[in-house]
Amino acid sequence: MKVYADVLIVGTGIAGLYSALNLRNNLKIVMITKEKVDDCNSYLAQGGIATAKDKYDIENYVQDTLKAGQYKNNEEAVRILAEESIDNINNLIKLGVKFDTVDGELRYTREAAHCNNRIVHCKDRTGGEVFNVLLKRVKEKSNIQIIEESCLIDIIEKNNICSGGIAVKDNEVINIYSKVTILACGGIGGLFKNSTNVKTLTGDGISIACKHKINIRDINYIQFHPTSLYEKGENRRFLISEAVRGEGAYLLNKRGIRFVDELLPRDVVSKAILNEELKSNSECVFLDITHKNSQYIVDRFPSIYEACINKGIDMTKDRIPVTPAQHYFMGGITVDTYSRTSMKRLFACGEVSCTGVHGANRLASNSLQEALVFSRRASIIINNNIDDIQFNKLEIDESYNCVNASNIKKQNIKIALNELIKVRGDLKNELVNC
Ligand code: SIN
Repeated sequence: MKVYADVLIVGTGIAGLYSALNLRNNLKIVMITKEKVDDCNSYLAQGGIATAKDKYDIENYVQDTLKAGQYKNNEEAVRILAEESIDNINNLIKLGVKFDTVDGELRYTREAAHCNNRIVHCKDRTGGEVFNVLLKRVKEKSNIQIIEESCLIDIIEKNNICSGGIAVKDNEVINIYSKVTILACGGIGGLFKNSTNVKTLTGDGISIACKHKINIRDINYIQFHPTSLYEKGENRRFLISEAVRGEGAYLLNKRGIRFVDELLPRDVVSKAILNEELKSNSECVFLDITHKNSQYIVDRFPSIYEACINKGIDMTKDRIPVTPAQHYFMGGITVDTYSRTSMKRLFACGEVSCTGVHGANRLASNSLQEALVFSRRASIIINNNIDDIQFNKLEIDESYNCVNASNIKKQNIKIALNELIKVRGDLKNELVNC
């Protein structure tokens, strides 16, 4: 089957949806997603979206991002992130996102390594709320088509020019020819035994980049979130948002003693927890917010409260067992500040990309803001240039057939795993077997 689109967007998380909404209405846009449309990390994001509160906070926000990133960040990208953050929050509000407010003003929460409260949120399900609004707006547009359960197995490429993607849906291969392609297909959590991510994120971007010699960077920078809900065994880990610490929760060891400043950067807190677990020969530590008013906890963290109750933990009375789990990939496909990759007509945004904004360690709640800022910038430059591009109807390699598709999917996973092991051999035991 052949499909033609002006723009192919791979992935329906917040980066994919927001780039689609920022493209011109007269462009034919096809979005594909590996599973169901909401099977994405954006949907799971709890804490919120970091933003400069006003022009006076921009420099502080820049400095907090650089410091958390151990000054390995691309400073130009960090400045763009901070400068454009307020506009993007206002755009979301215009699109219909209802962030929490106090007396009609945005309510900002605190998260680790921010020097002040600058996280806008929708209780503890910010990602889901933003996702739902963006998806609704996308569905209102007649020029955007979403094809679910379509797994990208490769891109169509010749002479370092991308002309679309090859996807498999219901055992059929679909060749999607596009003038421009945007990869917004997420990170690598599905490659880890314990991750807060959806399982389907298996590093497709990295493997495709490796196959086509597209530049990648910083792939040794992998973030572990300090507080995922501890359960025995290997599984997708339920996140206990950093906002719980931001609103005052303590981290306690098994003797009930605090052992770290809870609001230090994530990498520091994760290391302190692992150290504590090792010292006390235990598999978790505890998060304690029981000193706060019960009704306040239930109102502020309804999803986390409910998830814990379902596991027999009442966070208004009980300490929550937590342990670090893989959470975010700072590295990815190298992009410039307009999300352009090293391949012509191929863009990447969201977690699959690496703008360098996060450096070695992402500051809390910067992922959705990065997705917004840089997917919008991709759309702006595509809108300005796409009229000069013609379709390139390349013949597709015959090995891309539905019989071979599951082998190609497996090979892609192996490529991504190998690439990670090359730079992070220390994490080998944390990765899934393929
Ligand atoms: C959280 O709520 O702790 C996650 C937010 C993020 O990853 O920045």
